[in-house]
Amino acid sequence: MPVITNIEDLRVLAKQRVPRMFYDYVDSGSWTEGTYRANEADFQTIKLRQRVAINMDHRSTASTLVGQPVAMPVALAPVGLTGMQHADGEILAARAAKNFGVPFTLSTMSICSIEDVAAGTDQHPFWFQVYVIRDRDFMARLIERARAAHCSALVLTLDLQIMGQRHKDLKNGLSAPPKLTLPNILNMMTRPRWALGMLGTHRRGFGNVVGHVKGVDDMSSLTQWSAQQFDPTLNWNDVEWIKKLWGGKLILKGIQDPEDARLAVSAGADAVIVSNHGGRQLDGAQSSIRALPHVVAAVGKDIEVHMDGGVRSGQDVLKARALGARGVYIGRAYTYGLGALGEAGVTQALQIIHKELDLSMAFCGRTDIDTVDTSILLPGT
Ligand code: GLV
Repeated sequence: MPVITNIEDLRVLAKQRVPRMFYDYVDSGSWTEGTYRANEADFQTIKLRQRVAINMDHRSTASTLVGQPVAMPVALAPVGLTGMQHADGEILAARAAKNFGVPFTLSTMSICSIEDVAAGTDQHPFWFQVYVIRDRDFMARLIERARAAHCSALVLTLDLQIMGQRHKDLKNGLSAPPKLTLPNILNMMTRPRWALGMLGTHRRGFGNVVGHVKGVDDMSSLTQWSAQQFDPTLNWNDVEWIKKLWGGKLILKGIQDPEDARLAVSAGADAVIVSNHGGRQLDGAQSSIRALPHVVAAVGKDIEVHMDGGVRSGQDVLKARALGARGVYIGRAYTYGLGALGEAGVTQALQIIHKELDLSMAFCGRTDIDTVDTSILLPGT
């Protein structure tokens, strides 16, 4: 077993242990993957100010996100098909998040259902992500199910009315469960831990939708299901309808533009997530970390600004926080941990990021995450 010291180690192990179509689903961006790469690369261009001879004892990374206490300002992002990275993946990730003290966000396109995750975490509150779906009755029922499961925030995705093309998913014939073609069977045979886990669970399809939606031909195909069911007419009136229907904390995901951020405030959002969907939608969009300060300047005084995209380390979390993000989401970083080592791998991903955040904050001369601001960055970076 290799010594795991960073998120990259978890990625390498996940690549060995997860069938190719599911590993590729996560490690992809749309078209040229330019925005996917920029999300990570642009973090490297931001430089921290090293300070010395400052008492670095008694540090705290504890904070709050939409009023809820967190051990560090990091949440697990909604990731579709998480239960295909590892059997019962959503339950395991939600447990790791609960034990660490950070929010877990369940995707509508999860394998384990809302009810599975609630039961698997002893009803510990988690966050739930929704898309605007043509079948508004189904949507209303989903939101009702999230309420019944004590979800403490709703994350509404605004940047996936239609889906960007990810070449690998098409080439791999991505589906859940996987089709039993010869190449898929051969590939799964090289992943015995994964296969054994999958044989031991009944959760292998889209748990929130199978049996709950009418009029979709192939429920196993994310591409087909999204083309048939996601609503291309989504507009700000829908956001207000969902706000009323839900009544609780509402986080709008997929905001890149300051003008959209101002509209999000008018629609009654409690927070926005600066996001380009992990570089999976508009290829050519600006990286999230570069878009962040503009959104913060536009609405940071009115609501919380969160961000996702390219976060692979605690240093990235620190930089995002310095540029005004109240909270930062990790998607791939935790999914790699899950694919590599199950629940323990998600815990390890959180521990790695926490340690990097804690030590780097100290090297910048700060002991409390809530005092981190742009003054820890080298001017002009
Ligand atoms: C779904 O949200 C995806 O990006 O695949």
